[in-house]
Amino acid sequence: MQDQLSAILAKAQAEFPGIKSRPEYEAAKARFVGPNGELTALMKQMGAVPKEQRPALGKLINEAKGQLQALLDATVAHLEQLELASKLGPAVDPTLPSPDVGPGTSHPLTLVREEMCRILHKVGFVVADGPEVETEYYCFDALNTPADHPARDTQDTFYLQETARFANVSKKNRDERYLLRTHTSSVQIRTMLKGQPPIRIVSPGRVYRRDTTDATHSANFHQLECLYVDKNVTVSDLKALLDYIFASLLGKETKTRFRPHYFGYTEPSFEVDLSAKHLPKVNKEWIEIGGCGMVDPLVFDAVGYDSKVWSGYAFGMGLERLAMLLYGIDDIRYFYQNDARFLRQFA
Ligand code: DAH
Repeated sequence: MQDQLSAILAKAQAEFPGIKSRPEYEAAKARFVGPNGELTALMKQMGAVPKEQRPALGKLINEAKGQLQALLDATVAHLEQLELASKLGPAVDPTLPSPDVGPGTSHPLTLVREEMCRILHKVGFVVADGPEVETEYYCFDALNTPADHPARDTQDTFYLQETARFANVSKKNRDERYLLRTHTSSVQIRTMLKGQPPIRIVSPGRVYRRDTTDATHSANFHQLECLYVDKNVTVSDLKALLDYIFASLLGKETKTRFRPHYFGYTEPSFEVDLSAKHLPKVNKEWIEIGGCGMVDPLVFDAVGYDSKVWSGYAFGMGLERLAMLLYGIDDIRYFYQNDARFLRQFA
C-alpha cells in the first residue's frame, strides 16, 4: 500500500503544475480525493488490512492526504495568480513616458477674457494686474467705502489671519487686515498710485465672496474691470464704450441701458443691463451685467490726483455671466468641474 501511496503522490506532483483552469483543477481534485478518487479507493481498502498494521498505515495515508492537500492549495494559489494576470493585461513599464493625451482647449472663461481684452485693446486699453490677496484699504477704504459703510456688509469678506504676511502685497496702514478681494476695483487704486493720468486699463481676474453655490452663484468667480482717467471724460463716453464692447462681443443687435444705482467709488453710478434676445437661452428682455459710473472725486483724492483737472469712468462686470450669455450656458458650476465633455465644446 505504501508503494501505491507514493505512486499516487508522484502522479499528483507531475500533473498539478500543468493545471491552467478551474475546471481542470476540479477534475484533477476529483480524480484523487473525490468519492471515486484514487486516494479514496485506497482508504476504502483499510477495512481489509490486519488490525495491527492499521495504525501505521493510517498514519501513512494521513501524511499522503496532507501532501495532496498542500499540492491542491498550491495549485489554487497558482490559478489565482493566472487569473489576476489575465485581468491586469500585459505588463506596464511605469518608467515610460505617459501616452500623449493630445493638446487641450482654451477654457470658455479664458476665451471670453481674451476676446474682451482684444476688443478693449483696439480702443487703447492695456491690461493691468493686481493681487488676489488685498488689504481693506485697496479693496474698500480708498474706494470711498469706509469700515462703517453698509456696502461693506453686502460683500461679506474672506479675511486672512492677522498673522498672515505677504511680502508682495503692500499695505497702506500697518494694522489693516488682508482679505481675498471681493472685486477687481482694487486694481483701480493700485494702478492710479503707480502713475499719472491719462490711464486706460482693463483688469480681468478672480474675485471671492461669501456666497452659497448654486446655478448662478459661486464663492469665487471672475470679473473684468475698466478704468479710464483723462480730461473732460463724460457719461456719454462711458455709454459709447459699453455699447462698443457688447456689440463687438455679442453682436450688433445688442443694446445696453443704464439704471441709477449706488457705488461708493463712482458718482453718478449705474447698473448696466443688456438686451440680447438673439443669443441662445436668453428669454428675458434685460439682463443685468455689471456696474459703472464716473470716478468719484474722493477716489482721486485718495490717490493724489487733482479732481478739478481729471475725470474718468470705471466699470466692472462678471466674466462668467458674459460667457454664459455668449455660449448659452445655464449653470455656472460647469466652469469649474473640468469635465472635458463640456470644455471641448468651446474649442
Ligand atoms: N465692483 C462692483 C462689483 O463688484 C462693480 C463695479 C461697479 C465696478 C461700479 C466699477 C464701478 O468699476 O464703477 O459689484
